[in-house]
Amino acid sequence: MSSRPAWRALHYSAKRRAFQPPTPYRCFSCTTRAQSKPEDERMTHFGFTNVPESEKETRVGAVFSSVAASYDRMNDLMSLGIHRLWKDHFVRSLNPGSCLPAMTADQRGWNILDIAGGTGDIAFRMLDHASNINHDMETRVTISDINAAMLAEGRKRSLDTPYYNTNRLDFVEANAEHMPHIPDASVDLYTVVFGIRNFTDKQAALNEAFRVLKPGGVFACMEFSKVDNPVLDGIYKRWNFSAIPLIGQVVAGDRDSYQYLVESIERFPSQEEFRGMIQKAGFMIPGQGFENLTGGIAAIHKGIKPIVKA
Ligand SMILES: C[S@@+](CC[C@H](N)C(=O)[O-])C[C@H]1O[C@@H](n2cnc3c(N)ncnc32)[C@H](O)[C@@H]1O
Repeated sequence: MSSRPAWRALHYSAKRRAFQPPTPYRCFSCTTRAQSKPEDERMTHFGFTNVPESEKETRVGAVFSSVAASYDRMNDLMSLGIHRLWKDHFVRSLNPGSCLPAMTADQRGWNILDIAGGTGDIAFRMLDHASNINHDMETRVTISDINAAMLAEGRKRSLDTPYYNTNRLDFVEANAEHMPHIPDASVDLYTVVFGIRNFTDKQAALNEAFRVLKPGGVFACMEFSKVDNPVLDGIYKRWNFSAIPLIGQVVAGDRDSYQYLVESIERFPSQEEFRGMIQKAGFMIPGQGFENLTGGIAAIHKGIKPIVKA
């Protein structure tokens, strides 16, 4: 267990990224502006703090560089293991490796892009599902993430899987908002799990998802969302704002990164608003477009790229 204070962890990871913070460190949850910026600079949320858009990526990068090593353990503690059930359900609902409508009976193998794939939780599940349930050994997953430290954890975990060093698994460091290295209409399934709320320009990422998917391809996102029951919401918020930063401090020696993570959950659009953004990118929405999990603590959103763009 690390006793390194959170500000030191952030300072250290920022140094590793050869970035000199433009302002002295201050608490993530403060709502005053960090420093005076030109009036016309666009602002965005970093948790409850307003920051210039140009700073958000670096700040999010510092958070994930700091939490990477403890990320998987913290996920289990913060969600009491429930994230595993959600992730299993998410993958089952997509049924990777099954026969796609455009495929003939002997054609197999999906090209999956797992955005913000971090430590590989979704990618490994999808490959396991394709192999063990659909007996498909062709499906491949590219784990794409902006953060080198998170990808390094994913690579380390992949050593214990049958996919290590095979053409079924690939790691790419990239910003989901701009992926010129991925050709148009080349992907069967685009997934993003607990990642998109950290992006600076979420609409740009959704537009990129639309561009890289094949016609008929599926966009699937699981993200923390809005709880519909006031009693559950009260308990959940209390857990988020009291327990999680404390667990972050005790287990990972980093209270402020976990304070940011819970604040970013609050800032994420409602199920209906996010569905509108998916639609705006050009996707067709199946049914109501989202499925609430555990009363809306998380939600799965889906969109389909039309065969002929409307
Ligand atoms: C909470 S983790 C989720 C990891 C994984 N999908 C999971 O469910 O366990 C969020 C991930 O989003 C990544 N991320 C943040 N901003 C990004 C961006 N603009 N483009 C790609 N990845 C990004 C972070 O580096 C981090 O690995």
